[in-house]
Amino acid sequence: MAPRSGIKRIGVLTGGGDCPGLNAVIRAVVKTGLIEHHCEAYGILDGYEGLINDRIVPLGYEDVSGILAVGGTIIGTSNTAHPFEYVREGEDPSTARDVSERCVKNFEKARLDVLVCIGGDGSLSIAHQLAQKGIPVVGVPKTIDNDLYGTDVTFGFDTAVQIVSDAVDRLHTTAMSHHRAMVIETMGRYAGWLALVGGMAGGGDVILIPEIPYGMERVCEAVEERSRLGKRFSIIVVSEGAKIKGEEEVLASTRLDEFGHVQLGGIGQVLGKLIEKKTGYDTRVTVLGHIQRGGKPTAHDRVLATRYGVAAMDAVHCGHYGTMVALQGKEVVEVPLKVVSEGIKVVDERLYEITKTFWG
Ligand code: F6P
Repeated sequence: MAPRSGIKRIGVLTGGGDCPGLNAVIRAVVKTGLIEHHCEAYGILDGYEGLINDRIVPLGYEDVSGILAVGGTIIGTSNTAHPFEYVREGEDPSTARDVSERCVKNFEKARLDVLVCIGGDGSLSIAHQLAQKGIPVVGVPKTIDNDLYGTDVTFGFDTAVQIVSDAVDRLHTTAMSHHRAMVIETMGRYAGWLALVGGMAGGGDVILIPEIPYGMERVCEAVEERSRLGKRFSIIVVSEGAKIKGEEEVLASTRLDEFGHVQLGGIGQVLGKLIEKKTGYDTRVTVLGHIQRGGKPTAHDRVLATRYGVAAMDAVHCGHYGTMVALQGKEVVEVPLKVVSEGIKVVDERLYEITKTFWG
């Protein structure tokens, strides 16, 4: 297939928190670009940091060979470099300034024709802003949180679900042996997908998500009810953003990053202490943390990431800028990039109701 006239040099960047499958997208973009569209690809290093500070390197066939199954991102990422509110490392946040013009200049200096941005809500919202400044952009949705508007699923989610589900399986056997309550804290920010789907797959006894604040009495009742039924252990899966009714979410740090996010974390410990106090059950807490983002992607994520990368290059080829590739049903489609700024995709309540049937 001949390239659309003028489309020859593709810049690719990965922004925000890493997740399994990023390399699979990079590989698909570079290989499809080279083989199908006869384009050259360039990696922008460490997310927007590379675009701001002109760190752009050629990406050839050999660079992306053998990375399909490898976690992380070969071009690095950053969740601190924000072109419209840039703070140099070590500087005071009050020095934040708009360096987006520098991004445009570096994009032009590298003679790039289009930017393929692989990111979550923060990075893709920035991509949308850059598109408004004249950079032709195509977005690819990633995040283990699965909270992105416009797509049914983000790649990385399936791998993280598998990790949560495996952890719940493992904690079952030790909980059973010691007759304990086990609290497992997952990531997921303000959407409960990871706790809900991972907890459901692992057969968690109680699942707590940010979308539905919970009463401590109900949680303790469920643990006690299990005890009455002869089950001498309980598994409680809690999403990092979950809240006790009438209370705020628990924060690991109130410091905002450049994307405006606080650092969630600590609800597991709070919950564990309360369960132990109210039920008398010996309780232990496991925080899964960044293990959920590390390591190789599942087969599902490798395939989804590859489909996204190929679809992104099709969008580039057709000149469909300002779009994001997305999974809707079984099809990979293109949606306007601006949808990512419209909010977050929260869990389907019907799915949550199913898990509640198994409480207690
Ligand atoms: O958005 C992905 C995510 O892993 C969230 O689930 C979590 O709250 C956050 O990133 C953690 O970010 P960091 O890597 O900055 O600790």
